[in-house]
Amino acid sequence: TVHELIDKLNKEHALKKEEWVFLLGHRTEEDAEYLFSCARKQQQKYFGNCVYTRGLIEFTNICRNDCYYCGIRKSNPNAERYRLTTEQILSCAKSGYELGFRTFVLQGGEDLAYKDEDIVCLVRTIKEAYPDCAVTLSIGEKSYESYQKYFDAGADRYLLRHETADEVHYRKLHPAELSLEHRKQCLYDLKEIGYQVGCGFMVGSPGQTYETLAEDMLFITKVQPQMVGIGPFIPHHDTPFREEQAGTLELTLFLLGLLRLLIPNLLLPATTALGTIAPTGREQGILAGANVVMPNLSPVGVRKKYELYDNKICTGDEAAECRGCLNRRMESIGYELVVDRGDFVPVSGL
Ligand code: SAM
Ligand code: FES
Repeated sequence: TVHELIDKLNKEHALKKEEWVFLLGHRTEEDAEYLFSCARKQQQKYFGNCVYTRGLIEFTNICRNDCYYCGIRKSNPNAERYRLTTEQILSCAKSGYELGFRTFVLQGGEDLAYKDEDIVCLVRTIKEAYPDCAVTLSIGEKSYESYQKYFDAGADRYLLRHETADEVHYRKLHPAELSLEHRKQCLYDLKEIGYQVGCGFMVGSPGQTYETLAEDMLFITKVQPQMVGIGPFIPHHDTPFREEQAGTLELTLFLLGLLRLLIPNLLLPATTALGTIAPTGREQGILAGANVVMPNLSPVGVRKKYELYDNKICTGDEAAECRGCLNRRMESIGYELVVDRGDFVPVSGL
């Protein structure tokens, strides 16, 4: 039964493909409640009631790729393109630091205007200004050598969602220039170099099935990442997927619970997309087992331009308001935002 599979996952931290498919296909509301209570026990064990924050700086929305789901894909002529200057990025980091952020996530499209040297310089500058902070990069697929250079400059972590671990599904989401094989290779390279690595996927992306989700869970089991980013797919009006259905809150929460049991000490964000499909999505994400939130530190003037999907929340709020708002939201469910880098802590015997 589903209940037994949840117990098995909680004990063995792995399931077979058929078991994942069964678990996902037969889940009920009661199963979800049971899953979340197990997930919260694990979450409490490793993190107590602490929620880590990461300050997200969306520094460019220029991208060479054309992912069918993404609002800033290169062939969207309606996206108003921007790049932040180093000064602007540093000023985001400064206000973030004052607000208590100790991790900065530099995210952007695959913007070839930034040479390796520029990224290296950016990472170095931030690390020099804030030596007690972690820097996470999320700038897509690069060569081993480039990843190595950023790491040597001081980058601590890298987020690169695999998007789907199923070849056929991957092809439905991306044009022919992109390959799942290369994306996976990037994740292995990043791990080998020594980054704390995050993979992940959208929940409810067009063509996703319980089989493809099972493949995602098997891939995550194999990679053993330190972070996993999942959030619902949400259509964007200027993309080929404009008419597609969004992913659901219910399935996203269920998957968050499963991920907490799969890797109990995992860094697992309740994402902005989750907060976008439901007013209390992020709170519910934390109660399902997530332990990280990633509010936006980008200047208000560019927030709306980093529009990956429709109706993205918090695009009008200053960073300080976002932190305050999340603080209240977390306190309302008995958790608290902490001032901490929030590194992954390995646990032996897991
Ligand atoms: N370019 C980098 C990369 O490819 O990893 C980072 C930026 S990319 C916009 C960050 C993530 O946004 C993607 O990994 C994808 O999962 C998510 N995303 C893009 N479009 C989305 C949509 N319509 N709904 C939900 N998430 C989306
Ligand atoms: Fe490049 Fe979305 S297509 S960031």
